Amino acid sequence: MLSPILLLPVLAPLVASWTVPAQLFSNLIPQKVLATAKSLPAPIQYPQYTDTSAGHWLDFAPDTWTSGFFPTTLYALNTRKTLCGATAANGLSAANWLDLGRAASNGLIPLETHNNQGHDVGFLSFPFVEELAINPTNQTALTAVKQFAADLAARFNPVVGCTRSWDTADPTDFTVIIDNMMNLEILWVVYGLTGNTTLRDIAVKHADTTMKNHIRSDGSTWHVVEYNSTTGAVIRKRTSQGFSDNSTWSRGQAWGIYGFANMYQHTKDPNHLATARRLANYFLTNLPSDGIVPWDFNAPLVPAPRPADSSAATIAANGLLLLGTVETTAAAGKQWTNAAINLLNHITTLAWRPSWQSLLSNGTVNWPANNFLTGIVYGDYYYVKAGNTLVSMGLAKCS
Ligand SMILES: *[C@@H]1O[C@H](CO)[C@@H](O)[C@H](O)[C@H]1NC(C)=O
Ligand SMILES: *[C@@H]1O[C@H](CO)[C@@H](O)[C@H](O)[C@H]1NC(C)=O
Ligand SMILES: *[C@@H]1O[C@H](CO)[C@@H](O)[C@H](O)[C@H]1NC(C)=O
Ligand SMILES: *[C@@H]1O[C@H](CO)[C@@H](O)[C@H](O)[C@H]1NC(C)=O
Ligand SMILES: *[C@@H]1O[C@H](CO)[C@@H](O)[C@H](O)[C@H]1NC(C)=O
Repeated sequence: MLSPILLLPVLAPLVASWTVPAQLFSNLIPQKVLATAKSLPAPIQYPQYTDTSAGHWLDFAPDTWTSGFFPTTLYALNTRKTLCGATAANGLSAANWLDLGRAASNGLIPLETHNNQGHDVGFLSFPFVEELAINPTNQTALTAVKQFAADLAARFNPVVGCTRSWDTADPTDFTVIIDNMMNLEILWVVYGLTGNTTLRDIAVKHADTTMKNHIRSDGSTWHVVEYNSTTGAVIRKRTSQGFSDNSTWSRGQAWGIYGFANMYQHTKDPNHLATARRLANYFLTNLPSDGIVPWDFNAPLVPAPRPADSSAATIAANGLLLLGTVETTAAAGKQWTNAAINLLNHITTLAWRPSWQSLLSNGTVNWPANNFLTGIVYGDYYYVKAGNTLVSMGLAKCS
């Protein structure tokens, strides 16, 4: 286990104090989010990413893994209103964000009984988890979270020790992606509501198996590990969205930081903390000198420019802020917090786009599928959430 002290010399260049970027609290955020909310298609579809030229959202059917992020962004602006107050100047008085979040969540309700999202039911559950924080007796939201947790639990295989991420033509080919760490939170939420320890035990087992097989000795991660569902053996380790099988896809690395920091918050298992630290350390020490998160840490620099992934930056920033909160000492926590602010500064400088419908540009949805230089709904969500968290932590004012 790496002690925080050992990390200090490595990270020293990154711990200079950064100022939080003002754009995190710009009134353009509520303006754009409100415009998007008002123009959601009927029957409802949800924004996922933008085109590359004008930054216009492309909308997708509810049964898509990203559908929960826009409703959750509306809930996040409701949270921001609570934290910051609503004024004409900060733009938060322009709408009832809670009503908008609830209305936008309605299109997700049919997914409780049927969806094709595999492990991503965790992401679909986000707006309902937000709703329960406001109204713990909302039956629609309670049913949704319980059903999504049951869906994920049903994907657990005790021989492998993981929940299955993707379905495969050969059912014995059991595919787990690092992203799956983020979906475990729904198991904790419903364990908290019902006391069902099976859900908690599945989350812990999945994290422990991932810790063993998804992480390289240098703290980097494989995107995909395939297991044999009948023997539990690892068949192969590879990429799906990264540059190559042995490269490190930055968004996967970011999900891993966040997922293990979250796991430690629940378990207090020092191995989960050590893993979150190792992943974070790899992420920060492998950033290029411009501080911009590349879509894959091993993607070649030539031909330039190597595309960034602004969503990896904002996801990692949230993971680092959580790691900063759960760290064992204030000094160790401050390193991660400063690194998070540093990432947010660099990505704001590169990707803040007032003229686009998204908040940020320079997202890489899927480079092998030739889908990059876009805005991304989860990149924007985690940008807003990082701003809220910094205010909650007393590290930023609301303007
Ligand atoms: C309960 O939550 C659902 C979705 O989360 C929302 O659509 C509905 O408006 C909420 N009901 C009340 C009474 O707040
Ligand atoms: C706990 O959750 C598991 C997985 O969804 C389920 O099979 C089991 O019936 C639940 N236990 C209780 C007591 O509800
Ligand atoms: C998993 O192992 C079983 C038993 O050895 C074998 O029949 C099956 O083909 C294997 N599956 C894969 C995907 O390797
Ligand atoms: C990945 O493997 C290839 C071929 O085995 C090798 O050339 C390359 O350096 C490796 N990359 C990394 C990041 O380890
Ligand atoms: C950022 O996006 C702009 C266009 O929106 C593009 O010209 C630039 O090359 C991108 N930079 C990186 C590092 O991806």
